[in-house]
Amino acid sequence: MSATDGPLVLGIESSCDETGVGIVRGRTLLADAVASSMEQHAPYGGVVPEIASRAHLEAIVPMIQLACERAGIRLAQLDAIAVTSGPGLAGALMVGVGAAKALALALDKPIHGVNHLAGHVAVDQLEHGPLPEPCLALLVSGGHSNLLQVNDITSDIVSLGNTIDDAAGEAYDKVARLLGLSYPGGPVIDAEAASGSSVAIDFPRGLTSRRDLERHRFDFSFSGLKTAVARWVEARQRAGEPVPVADVAASFQEAVCDVLTRKAIDAATHTGIDHLVISGGVAANSRLRALAEERAAARGIQLRVPKRNLCTDNGAMIAALGAEIVARGHRPSALDFPADSSQPVSQVWV
Ligand code: KG4
Ligand code: ZN
Repeated sequence: MSATDGPLVLGIESSCDETGVGIVRGRTLLADAVASSMEQHAPYGGVVPEIASRAHLEAIVPMIQLACERAGIRLAQLDAIAVTSGPGLAGALMVGVGAAKALALALDKPIHGVNHLAGHVAVDQLEHGPLPEPCLALLVSGGHSNLLQVNDITSDIVSLGNTIDDAAGEAYDKVARLLGLSYPGGPVIDAEAASGSSVAIDFPRGLTSRRDLERHRFDFSFSGLKTAVARWVEARQRAGEPVPVADVAASFQEAVCDVLTRKAIDAATHTGIDHLVISGGVAANSRLRALAEERAAARGIQLRVPKRNLCTDNGAMIAALGAEIVARGHRPSALDFPADSSQPVSQVWV
């Protein structure tokens, strides 16, 4: 490893439905190979854990080979291996953790079991350079909706808020299903919303009443919104009237993006932190990006949103976090660490 370039790290991600293997040198992305089992889950309208685990088993070795090929490196050159130890689906995590341990043992390399959520934040370094610390992070995907205060990306992350029910992406997927749209719901609702009116229907903004804010200032709730959309659509159908899909999509999307950005900006004001990273699959949403930019600019907050393929689950984010952990001199993980499906975000590495 050269001090100027940083450590050469391979990262493995298998917490949900993407089998990702990324390779970085320090903060430079060398390769990012991702296989997704999304299509196999589509008929069920959501991720089926058993299907995801089997798909990881099939994809993991080809993705490792592809990443090495793309980066032009041999495994023997690596300085360390990083892998998502949690949170995520237990069976899915075990495939990545098992593969990473086998590599570490066979190659006699240090291994770092790392937190998936921290990886979503660390990945931004590959595109926008060193992460300002402290910064705030809004992570929104099919599996998570978190508002984080990142004081040190390798050792000090504080959870400010969480969803208390559905994740933001999950709400998109469920609302798409009840509108008869395809899975995953985010991109199709985003596209439908473009021709609809965001003020056509006044859908509820979860956990924003004065009383809710006392206990849940930075928490999210999307299941009430999903139910409100379902009731509204059912009422139209009962009355024999057509459902204005574009208006429902746009009004639903506005409710989600309004709450996400409002709470993220409120957290910035509350903490005095003026950098906000938004990541996760829902960060691809056009309205979320536009509203976040508008509201951040109005408050003098610097917004960082990684490009789409780095926002969704991938191995590069795990490699990026692993490289930062190595560069800052933290110890490797013991080889017997478990996959922890509910690993808290405060535990950046195991
Ligand atoms: O990060 P990701 O690929 O996987 C995890 O869930 O971890 O996120 C997938 C989620 C899905 O729920 C999908 O509907 C949502 O991200 N998504 C979007 C958009 N593109 C993907 N949601 C809103 N707008 C989009 N354009
Ligand atoms: Zn994720």
